[in-house]
Amino acid sequence: MKIVVLGAGYVGLTTSACLADLGHSVTCCDIDPQRIAALQSARVPIFEPGLSELIAQQMQAERLHFTTDANMAANDADAVFLAVGTPSDRDGDIDLSYVETAAQAIAPYLPSAAVIVLKSTVVAGTARRVKSLVDASRGGGDIAVASNPEFLREGTAIKDFLHADRIVIGADDARSEAVLRMIYAPLALRGIPILATETVNAELIKYAANALLALKIGFINDVADLCERLGGDVTAVADGIGRDHRIGGAFLAAGPGFGGSCFPMDTRAFASSGRRHGAQQPLVETLIERNEARKQALAARIIEAAPRHGRVAILGTSFKANTDDVREAAALTIVPLLVAAGLSVHLHDPQPDAAKRLLSNVQWHGTALGALKDADLAVVLTEWDQYRTLDLPKVARAMAGNTLLDLRNIIDPERAAGAGLNYQGLGRAPLAAAPARRGHGGTAMAQLAASPA
Ligand code: UGA
Repeated sequence: MKIVVLGAGYVGLTTSACLADLGHSVTCCDIDPQRIAALQSARVPIFEPGLSELIAQQMQAERLHFTTDANMAANDADAVFLAVGTPSDRDGDIDLSYVETAAQAIAPYLPSAAVIVLKSTVVAGTARRVKSLVDASRGGGDIAVASNPEFLREGTAIKDFLHADRIVIGADDARSEAVLRMIYAPLALRGIPILATETVNAELIKYAANALLALKIGFINDVADLCERLGGDVTAVADGIGRDHRIGGAFLAAGPGFGGSCFPMDTRAFASSGRRHGAQQPLVETLIERNEARKQALAARIIEAAPRHGRVAILGTSFKANTDDVREAAALTIVPLLVAAGLSVHLHDPQPDAAKRLLSNVQWHGTALGALKDADLAVVLTEWDQYRTLDLPKVARAMAGNTLLDLRNIIDPERAAGAGLNYQGLGRAPLAAAPARRGHGGTAMAQLAASPA
């Protein structure tokens, strides 16, 4: 089938490359000429494992093309996927203007019977609203508008697309359902379930899925706090509850609070939608507050554990491993608070470019060991594989202090202790005071408290 994808961001590019991989002829469009020029030379502007290779492969097979001229591409399209941005405002409401503008702009160029498919995450009711805008801009109702939410995780997006747990088709008419079923037929043949429902349900499925996954994380983070008070181990507790198949073990890893471009924004939009429609979502409202408070509490904990004016190594700034994305990453809350407390902050991340643009008054290092050198305190903030396999005796020798705060529980406590490190996991044991190796006049926390606001 002939498919146009509007938006060459993370979702648009993954969707384009994977739909081409399924055998469709795909044209991916973006209004940014530099981005498109780079893509036309097979240079991919985002870091996503396997994506560059898949894009190059599909371009070579001539199933994937890039252009800024969406209208031209649209004239013989069977379907147009909208994967444009939906920024959120301070109340949590998302801005649908890119989605609406893109749909209205392309509608006049589409052949009759084409389907506009909303891939961007949008609040319930958007597909129906876009349908009425499109009908108005065409002066008729021949274009269908469907919803097809994505469930891609950054870092594993290609696998999540090609080996999805399910594909949700939101269609209010038989034709758009048939077109989407045809597009996904290669995946249905591999046994992936296709769930067809009304657009409003598809839109709600996306938000409810993200909210429930985020609630699991928020819950286990609260349990982690209790484990610390009681001397328990949250990894053992998560394992024990996760093996109940009604609960499931996924998304039960305690950490520094969820971040990224999806969970924070989607939970806010879900809560805001509940408020607006008189169906409050108090669990999600509380989750949002707790998640932000957690990042601040962990910053205070690092400050408390560090010597005054001490040197802190932070390993990982991305919101999770295998991505360069720092949107709403814990590092963006924690690092500035450490700097404000007078700590000298040394950072490492395997994909540091985006973080470098956003974090100031810090020092970057090309290797984890470089950041750890002479550090009084080390903190693991992102679960990159290379931190799991750190040479711990080397780490202990490089550091000035010996406390290792593992906020992702990815390092074996016994291995760390064996290397002479004062290991502190998350939700694993009460935080003991780190033995200071250098003479300091008090903790950085005390200094922050003493400094004027
Ligand atoms: C999330 C969903 O997992 C995808 O299904 C969805 O398609 C996507 O949002 C979206 O709406 O587009 P993503 O934001 O890429 O994907 O990342 P996740 O792997 O879900 O992680 C989100 C945050 O939760 C990260 O900060 C991560 O570190 C944290 N997390 C995740 C935990 O703290 N503990 C866990 O057990 C899992």
